[in-house]
Amino acid sequence: MEKTFLMVKPDGVQRGLIGTIMARFEKKGFQLIGAKLMQLTMEQAEHHYAEHVSRPFYGELVEFITSGPVFGMVWMGDEVVAHSRAMMGKTNPLEAAPGTIRSDYAMHKGINIIHGSDSPEAAEREIHHFFKPEELVTYKRCLDDWI
Ligand code: PPS
Repeated sequence: MEKTFLMVKPDGVQRGLIGTIMARFEKKGFQLIGAKLMQLTMEQAEHHYAEHVSRPFYGELVEFITSGPVFGMVWMGDEVVAHSRAMMGKTNPLEAAPGTIRSDYAMHKGINIIHGSDSPEAAEREIHHFFKPEELVTYKRCLDDWI
């Protein structure tokens, strides 16, 4: 079963949106298998965003993601990477479709509430970076036959 790493960014944590965001993924039918509140170090932020190091906003990106606690989650389900990216909406909230998380709760491109892995390979990397194997709990749900 596919897994993804999602992270409520510092703006989402400060605005009390952790529960609201988790509810969207729970109601969709995905299974939560790990979650924790974290204060990222600069090293963790630089590692996480390493692919963007040459982009002009890189400095702002790592400064923002370390500016307060984030809430990291691992979710599991069929095509959860693509589904969660669709539920998040485009990076720029102005371009995000109405009803998506970024359209509903954000205004600025760099302050956009949530991060989600952009491929199953990235998800594996990001989960491994932020979670120890013993922090993930997989379990059989009786409702899985209905999703
Ligand atoms: S874009 O539109 O193609 O540049 O966006 P993307 O490649 O998805 O962006 C990668 C991450 O950089 C964040 N971002 C920014 N941060 C600060 N300032 C500006 N201008 C900015 N533009 C993009 C964006 O939110 C992505 O973060 P994650 O955590 O991966 O969603």
